[in-house]
Amino acid sequence: MLNKQYLYTPGPTPVPPQVAAAMSQPMIGHRSQDFAQFHGEIVGKAKQVFQTTNDLFVLTSSGTGGLETAIANTVSPGDRVLALITGNFGERFAKIAAAYGAEVTKVEFPWGTALDMEQVVQTWDEEGPFKVVLATHNETSTGVTNDIAALGSFLADTDTLLLVDAVSSMGAMDIRTDEWHVDLMVTGSQKALMLPPGLALVSVSPKAWQTIEANSGVRFYFSLLDARKSFANNNTPWTPAVSLFYGLDAALDLILSEGLPQVFQRHARMAAAARAGVRALGMQLLAADDAIASHTVTAFLPGPETAAGDLSKLLKGEMGVTFAGGQGKLKGKLLRIGHMGWCSELDVITAIAALEMALHKLGADVELGAGVRAAQQALL
Ligand SMILES: Cc1ncc(COP(=O)(O)O)c(C=O)c1O
Repeated sequence: MLNKQYLYTPGPTPVPPQVAAAMSQPMIGHRSQDFAQFHGEIVGKAKQVFQTTNDLFVLTSSGTGGLETAIANTVSPGDRVLALITGNFGERFAKIAAAYGAEVTKVEFPWGTALDMEQVVQTWDEEGPFKVVLATHNETSTGVTNDIAALGSFLADTDTLLLVDAVSSMGAMDIRTDEWHVDLMVTGSQKALMLPPGLALVSVSPKAWQTIEANSGVRFYFSLLDARKSFANNNTPWTPAVSLFYGLDAALDLILSEGLPQVFQRHARMAAAARAGVRALGMQLLAADDAIASHTVTAFLPGPETAAGDLSKLLKGEMGVTFAGGQGKLKGKLLRIGHMGWCSELDVITAIAALEMALHKLGADVELGAGVRAAQQALL
């Protein structure tokens, strides 16, 4: 059997050959001048993708470590934190804050919808102010993107810090860290940045530094003060995952040479094609409103007649196609197609073709070609 695999999970994502080749370079000492120079260059390129002039750190950890870094450095026990939750990853962010002893006020929005500023303002008026606000830019568990610009402009003139999880959207969507007044912006390597898992990137605003310097809470591996001290010499406080740094350099070159506007447009088009295909097959999109639909992941309910588990087992077992399942309260009910990073419009057509065939094999009432045709039409 050929055993060709088609990976459509919303992280990890396929790694381009240029990135894989870069990661196979011989090891260098991370205290060398060679590392310092190339580390400095990586940070410069990453800042372009983050659209920021703030400090930026590349951490050897998964995305969750980046979120923990943001919390550990700004939150002390008893601090008041407002967590805006639109899905599983918003819940995780809130849990990290609670683990650090914060007094967390949660505002939860129905899964499949975006955060609603009216409700945020009402909570602020009734229960604010808060020291820190947590939000998810792209909620991977539901395929919804939140309007961080509106939230940032609401908080801009306050003393409150805005911490944003952009783990599954940075490098795919137009994220304006500075223009949106985001104090700590976090992403991870294994999504639109096209790397294996293992790195987190965090940007830190001047406003955030004041809080970080005054924060007496516990932190060690994730101390941004230590990271800043080392970064003054283009170094890292602990041993960095050097091979992943090589890969990151190559991945950032790919993104910047394609051009940020082109990268953003490609992701918007892939999302539109995926949504058109899923809709044409009679499946229900979890994010019903196109205006808030993620450009990197499409979540859908296969419907009453087809179990999500059967569909994903058949896709993987017979076609080598991996979609992701539902998370949290949507476990077993949902399927998610990731379309980010090293992913093309034709890869989306392939995903929809596989979905169509799998539905047909399971006896669902689908017209072969209907999903593919709708996806093609969305692209043409
Ligand atoms: C939005 C979001 N936040 C956080 C994470 C957690 O990142 P990691 O799994 O790298 O720790 C993920 C991973 O799927 C994510 O999609």
